Amino acid sequence: MTMTDYSLLDAQLRALVKDEPDALANAANFVALLYNALDDINWLGIYVLRGDELVLGPFQGQPACVHIQIGSGVCGTAAATLETQRVPDVHAFPGHIVCDAASRSEIVVPLQFGERLVGVLDIDSPSLDRFDSADQQGVELLCRTYCELAGSDEGFI
Ligand code: SME
Repeated sequence: MTMTDYSLLDAQLRALVKDEPDALANAANFVALLYNALDDINWLGIYVLRGDELVLGPFQGQPACVHIQIGSGVCGTAAATLETQRVPDVHAFPGHIVCDAASRSEIVVPLQFGERLVGVLDIDSPSLDRFDSADQQGVELLCRTYCELAGSDEGFI
């Protein structure tokens, strides 16, 4: 597996979203950029905070579950704790929600406008222990850039 160049991806993300005010278009491009840049993944997408639950947003991969409760599964845990969840073996994570049976490991990063949770980014891999701490730092950097540049006055998506 090749190392991901997260600095290059960050520059590409900035170029993609900096002059575009449409939050939905930016979310779709964010997801597409990452999905095509990361090796060995089978699903990548955003769940948006709508009211008191997470709802499926732009993604690439197999169709997925639409509603996730805060605190439930890996995504809901990231949303509840506001902390990245890096899960080397999803079968060992209590309450993991199976959307694509091929997924074996995943990373979920909260998306925040300042203190306010607006959603999570979920990345799934068919390989065990796909994501290391460098991936975590890189994906967290991209999520910060995205939240800084890609929202709109009307909201996140
Ligand atoms: N595995 C996630 C559910 C979302 S799918 O992977 C797309 C979870 O437990 O939060």
